[in-house]
Amino acid sequence: MKLSGKIAIVTGAGSGIGRATAQRCAAEGAQVLCCDVANADATASGIGDAAAAYAMDVREPAAWEGAVAEAKQRFGDVDLLANIAGVVAKGDDTALGQDLEDWERIISINLKGPWLGMRAVLPTMLQRGSGVIVNIASEAAIIGIPGLLAYTASKGGIAALTRQVAIEYVRQGVTVNAIAPGFIRTAIQDGIEQSLLDDMAAGIPIGRFGAPEDIAASIAHLFSADGQYITGQVIAVDGGWGVA
Ligand SMILES: NC(=O)c1ccc[n+]([C@@H]2O[C@H](COP(=O)([O-])OP(=O)(O)OC[C@H]3O[C@@H](n4cnc5c(N)ncnc54)[C@H](O)[C@@H]3O)[C@@H](O)[C@H]2O)c1
Repeated sequence: MKLSGKIAIVTGAGSGIGRATAQRCAAEGAQVLCCDVANADATASGIGDAAAAYAMDVREPAAWEGAVAEAKQRFGDVDLLANIAGVVAKGDDTALGQDLEDWERIISINLKGPWLGMRAVLPTMLQRGSGVIVNIASEAAIIGIPGLLAYTASKGGIAALTRQVAIEYVRQGVTVNAIAPGFIRTAIQDGIEQSLLDDMAAGIPIGRFGAPEDIAASIAHLFSADGQYITGQVIAVDGGWGVA
């Protein structure tokens, strides 16, 4: 029970990596506010008393104020924030094909949302002199991936934002890191043909897609006392994909 007594906000908790992270945090003893635009209830009720659901859009500053207030009222001051909610493009995400509306949607969910989340939890963390924030970047923060223009821009922004906030508050008891997942099998790949998924899995050195639980385990490590000397990092959790 690495997170006994801790209070966590997890976004994207309705599905995939966010759901697995909410479950893992609760299994490690934390109380968790499960935040998402969809299915947060299902995750929270599956966990039980250690969790509560909060329907929110991470793009909305007022929703973040509401989430922090809800967590405080139900459990207490927030110790841990996992900024996990994220989206990929609806259509062509190339430099010439991407349209303005989808660019703005991706950047505002994947990049503005995590900033708003950090802005909402930091005052209390700084006041208490402790707190841990984990953002979700991607291998796309590190390398170019054809057809992921706005997505790579948003995740590269997450890497920069993570370093920036980490260094701003490094002397005040708050650590901020990002996990860069490789290919993790979740709903985010819905619509991709099975043959293409098989090809993708074959190209991962470890020989399989990651599971959401692989990422949740790394987040739990950063959240725990074992991760206290790590800050400002973008840590690849990718089965060796990024170094092959
Ligand atoms: N799966 C992968 O291979 C992979 C790889 C690298 C990075 N990531 C990142 O991991 C994170 C989680 O992805 P996943 O694979 O679990 O996908 P997913 O689609 O299973 O989960 C994403 C969740 O975010 C929620 N969400 C979307 N827009 C939101 C909004 N405006 N406000 C609140 N919640 C919102 C969705 O409802 C969903 O529950 C994303 O940031 C994604 O970019 C995933």
